[in-house]
Amino acid sequence: MNTEYRLFPIQAADGAAGVDALFFFQCAVTVFFSVLIFVLIVFFALKYRQGRNVDRSNPVHELWSIELTWSIIPLALTMVMFGWGAVLYVRGSQAPPNALTIDVIGKQWMWRIYHPEGNQEINELHVPVGQPVRLRMISDDVIHSFYIPAFRTKMDVLPGRHTELWFTANRPGEYHLFCAEYCGADHSRMRGTVVAMEPGDFAEWLRGGGAVEAPEAVGAKLFTQFRCDNCHHQQTGARGPSLAGIYGNDVPLQDGGAVVADEAYLRESILNPAAKIHAGYKNLMPTFRGQLSEEDVLRLTAYIKSLRRPDEEAEKP
Ligand code: CUA
Repeated sequence: MNTEYRLFPIQAADGAAGVDALFFFQCAVTVFFSVLIFVLIVFFALKYRQGRNVDRSNPVHELWSIELTWSIIPLALTMVMFGWGAVLYVRGSQAPPNALTIDVIGKQWMWRIYHPEGNQEINELHVPVGQPVRLRMISDDVIHSFYIPAFRTKMDVLPGRHTELWFTANRPGEYHLFCAEYCGADHSRMRGTVVAMEPGDFAEWLRGGGAVEAPEAVGAKLFTQFRCDNCHHQQTGARGPSLAGIYGNDVPLQDGGAVVADEAYLRESILNPAAKIHAGYKNLMPTFRGQLSEEDVLRLTAYIKSLRRPDEEAEKP
């Protein structure tokens, strides 16, 4: 249990348990007030029905104690729901730094999964138990939505831009995986299984994939195949800036600003190179939109991330 999120008297529990607790709290509040209101309706309808001999004099027009009570109590309850939900939302949207990143590409009508070691899966996602897993997701065509009901987590998968989702599976087992956004004829069949395994079993499963090629290695080939190396020489960088050590660092831009070369920036610079030009270079690079699939972009990005400057290179990549 993580202590830094104990902002509220009701502790935001981890993952699915936290979402369930909030859900049951809201259900309990809803049921309580629904019952209260219906009981009162029936009670007053019977008590003051036509012809009944009851005291109807002196109707109340203003009673501050009641006005305040029925304003302050619902306000307090809804603020608890808001705060509690906000804590869960913030937690759910930020993967911890030690999370294992797995890439997901949604396409009509399947889920493709790319492990950093090079293993690939379709409609199956193997993860280790007890380890936060961050899914970096993008779509090849239309909007999909990655939904694991058992983990109480769901996120849209969009064309053109990455979205993220993270979770920590805490029990080995198999869990349903669905597409939760109508995406065409076979949407209802776009589903799969999340297989949570003990870390040892997971490592064995990775090794069982045989001789897989690391995404960086595939990216290196694409880098040559698409002639990226013509301009982006790793050492000199003539027509284009050197990409060695660029990942995670500031890139000075032509307009005087700077941008951090994160995954989104690398992707944008491959598909829309004119968007943010490196200071000191001309807008010469053609766009690779339409020539590279999202899968290719993913591998090129992995390769560029693996490039180190000669001085910070401990061992050859
Ligand atoms: Cu993909 Cu619905």
